Amino acid sequence: MRSIEINGVPIEIGAPDTVDNDWVGNLDVLHQLLACWMLVHPDDLPMSPRLIGRPGVGKTTLACAAARRIERPIFIFQATMDTRPEDLLITPVLAENGRIKYVASALVSAMIEGGVAILDEGNRMGEKSWASLAPLLDHRRYIESIVAGVKVKAHPEFRFCTTMNEDSSTYEVPEYIQSRLQPQIYIDFADANEEQEILRANMPFAPQEIINYVVNFLQKAHASEEPYSVRDGINITRMVLKLGAARSAREDQQDRSEPASKPSDLTSKPLDLTSKPSELTSKPLDLTSKPAVFQGANLRGLLHDAVMGVLGDEALRYLS
Ligand SMILES: Nc1ncnc2c1ncn2[C@@H]1O[C@H](COP(=O)(O)OP(=O)(O)OP(=O)(O)O)[C@@H](O)[C@H]1O
Ligand SMILES: [Mg+2]
Repeated sequence: MRSIEINGVPIEIGAPDTVDNDWVGNLDVLHQLLACWMLVHPDDLPMSPRLIGRPGVGKTTLACAAARRIERPIFIFQATMDTRPEDLLITPVLAENGRIKYVASALVSAMIEGGVAILDEGNRMGEKSWASLAPLLDHRRYIESIVAGVKVKAHPEFRFCTTMNEDSSTYEVPEYIQSRLQPQIYIDFADANEEQEILRANMPFAPQEIINYVVNFLQKAHASEEPYSVRDGINITRMVLKLGAARSAREDQQDRSEPASKPSDLTSKPLDLTSKPSELTSKPLDLTSKPAVFQGANLRGLLHDAVMGVLGDEALRYLS
């Protein structure tokens, strides 16, 4: 941890987050966000937009991808209902020598380092915490930490955005803050082509046939206004692969342990967990050889189980 002094008070700064995911598909929203952070004149100021949309549509991914595009370090602060103003700014912590040390939050670390602060799920935190950001989000660009007794001015390269879910378990963000969190960038469900690209980018090793089924499933669900997102699609794909790998490992093991004369479908021997069955070890399946487990009726069975496991039986009607 790096430490700096502000008005004689030593403050420890956190390390940035490492995020590798890139943004694929809807480039409009990426360009909007990048435009908000651009300066068109030496006296211009960046904007602090709100990324809104249903859970799992890619709000956090978009914010991180935009930060990577402008090559600034990323500092993600996860807001919760329990976030207090000092958590958001600077927290006093007891050091080894019994003295108090001051630790900057991810947000304040970004302000000092000239990074991008992503206040994730901002509408989960209450008005008191938002109030402490009011001066940061207008032309003043500073915060005041009552606990550490310092005022911290944002680095000129500092950029900010917040993500907000459209669900109801959150606080109403006060008007005077909403007016500082402009513009709103709405992220909708992706279309079929974009969903293909997103699944492929996130699961490059998944057979195309599985991706086709999952995209088809998601598109049908979107048409019926279901809240299932591309994150659910990624989880279903992941689950299909794991269930398939586990099944083929189990079949391999059965083949090896059965005498040739005994048909394997008549045995229902439980797995011997003490002998470390191969399905519990992490030997990867060779997916390039199109294993039979991911074809035809086998694949449909796996999709059924994966959708059921990830979203429940209500979702099965969108599988065809
Ligand atoms: N356009 C995209 N490009 C690449 N990956 C994407 C895209 N959209 C979504 N994803 C992937 O979908 C998953 C969910 O995205 P993310 O976590 O950003 O959603 P979110 O809107 O922030 O969800 P929440 O509201 O629950 O926080 C991630 O694994 C992400 O990699
Ligand atoms: Mg998110």
